[in-house]
Amino acid sequence: MNTLFEETALKTMSLQNRTIRSATWEGLAADDGGVTPAYIAKLVALARGGVGLVITGNAFVSPEGRGGHRQLGVQDDARVPGLAALTGAVHAAGGRIALQLAHAGEIADTAHSGLPPVGPSPDPDQPGGEALDVAGIAALVAAFARAAARAKTAGFDAVQVHAAHGYLLHQFLSSAWNSRDDAYGGALENRARMLLEVVDAVRAVVGPDFPLLVKCNSEDFVPGGLTVDESLAVAGMLEAAGVDALELSGGCKQAGPAFMPARKGRIKGPDQEAYYRAAAVRFKERLRIPLALVGGIRSHGVAEALVRTGVADYVALSRPLVCEPGLIGRWREGDRRPALCVSDNACYAPIFAGEGIRCPSFAGKRVSAAD
Ligand SMILES: Cc1cc2nc3c(=O)[nH]c(=O)nc-3n(C[C@H](O)[C@H](O)[C@H](O)COP(=O)(O)O)c2cc1C
Repeated sequence: MNTLFEETALKTMSLQNRTIRSATWEGLAADDGGVTPAYIAKLVALARGGVGLVITGNAFVSPEGRGGHRQLGVQDDARVPGLAALTGAVHAAGGRIALQLAHAGEIADTAHSGLPPVGPSPDPDQPGGEALDVAGIAALVAAFARAAARAKTAGFDAVQVHAAHGYLLHQFLSSAWNSRDDAYGGALENRARMLLEVVDAVRAVVGPDFPLLVKCNSEDFVPGGLTVDESLAVAGMLEAAGVDALELSGGCKQAGPAFMPARKGRIKGPDQEAYYRAAAVRFKERLRIPLALVGGIRSHGVAEALVRTGVADYVALSRPLVCEPGLIGRWREGDRRPALCVSDNACYAPIFAGEGIRCPSFAGKRVSAAD
């Protein structure tokens, strides 16, 4: 029987417990995507706060794939020294850190890149968007691989490929975006082709022992989009391709407010926690590789039960750790009160204001020493 506060390992990465800070856009990088002192301080606070693995906010692998301002970048070699300073600081704080590799595809923020968005198929809502041709797909697969190589050089313990939340690799998976009729569209095996090429290319550069994670959606909640059955099949393909662990999420901006990955609305009790619990049960039945579950996990009791009953091998949290970076340490030390987070998504406003992520709702309240 697994427990929340036990040591585990994913290949070369040992972890002090089964908790993960799910990737969260911090809005604290420099304009060119570079690491800043404020960025390092934010992630060091998370490591000190006791979370087993910190996954960075999504880092763009190529300039036109940038999703938002002050987003972390891993688009060129000039980013490596800053990223190395980040991993060094997190390691010195006793933490483990993975880099999330991402491309925003059709939902890229053109105001910041100045480049047209690219995706599987032209998007009528995004004038100027371009469908990738086969050479363009190959170039982006190579960009993911180069980014992974930079991550390894910079000292990250793992990489996570972002294939969820309406980002490029999810757009290819989902028929709501992908209407191609070539080898990258139509049948699920074709829609999964780019993701699998990315996984193979990343594996080729990081080597067999380096942990390679993928974040995927259980479903996207868009009419005609990715279903749980399809996601399960893709998960099987990822396992066969040698992925070391999956993080299961769901939803996307295009699904509307009720099905955003970060659902808005206070979670009133354990029954409302873990949005994708039912899907996770099915994923665990199907997979042998470890599964992390994210989305609406707020109490120690639910986190512990998910792990103990085998619904998930790891629990991942985003907003609760914005509010309380020391939440996991607090639980470990015996203060088992639920997270303060009220899931009002107020943490987005300071990012958009250019100030970086924080929780305005609980400003100034201290619950544990790390907050
Ligand atoms: C401000 C903010 C930024 C986020 N940025 C990312 C991101 O960069 N990559 C990602 O995969 N998910 C991102 N997410 C989604 C979270 O990782 C997580 O899947 C979601 O918030 C649900 O978990 P929670 O209920 O613990 O917050 C973000 C969420 C928030 C609130």
